[in-house]
Amino acid sequence: MSNLRGIEVLWDPKLNKSTAFSEEEKQALGLVGLVPDVTESEDLQLQRVNLQLAQKPTDLERYIYLINLLDHNETLFYRAVMSDPARFLPIVYDPTIGEACLKFGHIYRQARGMYLSITRRGKVKEVLKNWPEKDVRFICVTDAGRILGLGDLGANGMGIPIGKLQLYTACAGVPPQYLLPMYLDAGTNNEQYLHDPLYLGMRKTRPATDELYSFVDEFVQAVQEVFPKCCIHFEDWTGVDAVHLLQRYRDKYCVYNDDVQGTAGIVLAGMINAAKIKGKKLSDERYLFLGAGSAGIGLADLLCSAMTQERLSRKEAESHVYMFDINGLLEDTRKDLVDFQKPYAHKHSPTRDFVAAIESIKPTTIIGVSTVGGTFTQKVIEAMSRINDRPVILALSNPTDHAECTPEQAYTWSKGKAVYAAGVQFPPVHYDGQTFLPGQANNFYIFPAIGMAVFATVASRVTDEMFIEAARAVADQVPADSLKQGLLYPLQSNILETEIQTAARVAKLIFDSGLARVARPADMVAFIRDHVYKPEYKVQSARSKTA
Ligand code: NAI
Repeated sequence: MSNLRGIEVLWDPKLNKSTAFSEEEKQALGLVGLVPDVTESEDLQLQRVNLQLAQKPTDLERYIYLINLLDHNETLFYRAVMSDPARFLPIVYDPTIGEACLKFGHIYRQARGMYLSITRRGKVKEVLKNWPEKDVRFICVTDAGRILGLGDLGANGMGIPIGKLQLYTACAGVPPQYLLPMYLDAGTNNEQYLHDPLYLGMRKTRPATDELYSFVDEFVQAVQEVFPKCCIHFEDWTGVDAVHLLQRYRDKYCVYNDDVQGTAGIVLAGMINAAKIKGKKLSDERYLFLGAGSAGIGLADLLCSAMTQERLSRKEAESHVYMFDINGLLEDTRKDLVDFQKPYAHKHSPTRDFVAAIESIKPTTIIGVSTVGGTFTQKVIEAMSRINDRPVILALSNPTDHAECTPEQAYTWSKGKAVYAAGVQFPPVHYDGQTFLPGQANNFYIFPAIGMAVFATVASRVTDEMFIEAARAVADQVPADSLKQGLLYPLQSNILETEIQTAARVAKLIFDSGLARVARPADMVAFIRDHVYKPEYKVQSARSKTA
């Protein structure tokens, strides 16, 4: 129940309807005279949002405007974003979010989420209790060790958990009150920010790994006690921390890492469809990665699990996957590999030449997760095109200028043979009288749907099988005629419906695996739909429930 009245209603973004209060509400809530004497519909308000947005000169300005709208009127913000996801998602999330994070301390208006610094060790539980919502179902947490492909951004990385959680709602309808963005401040090694007077984090370099992990241990344990139904979503930690922290908690608590598992899920969906275009299965293909960090390893591991579902043994599946990193091909004489890279270090002569590796290994698919733009050179694409009728080129690093190659380069250098997807959205490419639709392997097809399934079922764990099922569900939703044009992913314009169908398939798996903490429904799609948040104002009275 909300006891708020008058101006306090207007200050609460969950209750504020700005110009849409009815006469009865104005009377009951003491709002007469505090708002213009009109009662506008949500659609009319949306027209005004669009008008004001159109006057903003850059996407960063549009981002600032929309976050400001969210701070004042949550319903209208989500109504705008959900009205046209293909247009709004690139503003509230990738690629604009990269720039927003770089300038986070400068464009900061108001706190959103929690800032927990390592100096609060021993008191983490008390700090978590300061959050006003008592039933938190998702915490998206970062230490900002590696934000997108931009490196250590310290407190500026807070833009990511804020944005990621908005996508749970905007893409899959998870109600926003259950979502908590969190920055674990263990310092930063970013010299520029350490010297910026407007930087919002601790002015200390990062601690030793043991110290960081003991802080994370306290945080994870405190979450179990303060928010017992909460799933912790790890986001944008450095590659090694991402993998190690996932290994540390995944069998004990409800946690996942989107960079490891979500990226893997969405890329897997693209690989399933790329194989379909060629009339093949995953296990008929041979994969070479450029980059063996958290995204690359997560994908390789999930890909191998998916191949084992096609009846390969784990060892056989691993033999289909090769990796190449900053020090060259991962092979069995390399001494610098960490434990989780070793399964992909096969017997092969050492090489630091990626084209030579392609010519020797003969991959059907190359996957760029290197963070370095332009690394799929003309020679790389030409080598892939000599070996394959339909080379599959996945250039996944982001933001845009970090993509290993552009779709135009992939289609031109392969003479129209490439099947291509990137980590960011590129426009259609016209080449040799044909129109190609480059796909965007964006995690937002996967993690919000997983989130919705976990939310609706109150799942106790998040498993790799859930990401494989989500990948298959996303892949299955691309119509055959779109596949013919090389489109590997569903269209963004219909994203909510796509995610509902995906969430329903994941929810079914959660029930089948015995991980649900609610009763099994008869109709899984209807069950998911019942949980979907709708950006509509609720009628308010003097002591009404919050919207
Ligand atoms: P990371 O920092 O953990 O790993 C980067 C890897 O690339 C390392 O193995 C490194 O040795 C290798 N590398 C760096 N420079 C290289 C070079 N010149 N040649 C060959 N290898 C090189 O980063 P993480 O987390 O694995 O992310 C990689 C990229 O994937 C990022 O740009 C990120 O934005 C992108 N990504 C894309 C997603 C998507 O498309 N859905 C989701 C998550 C990440």
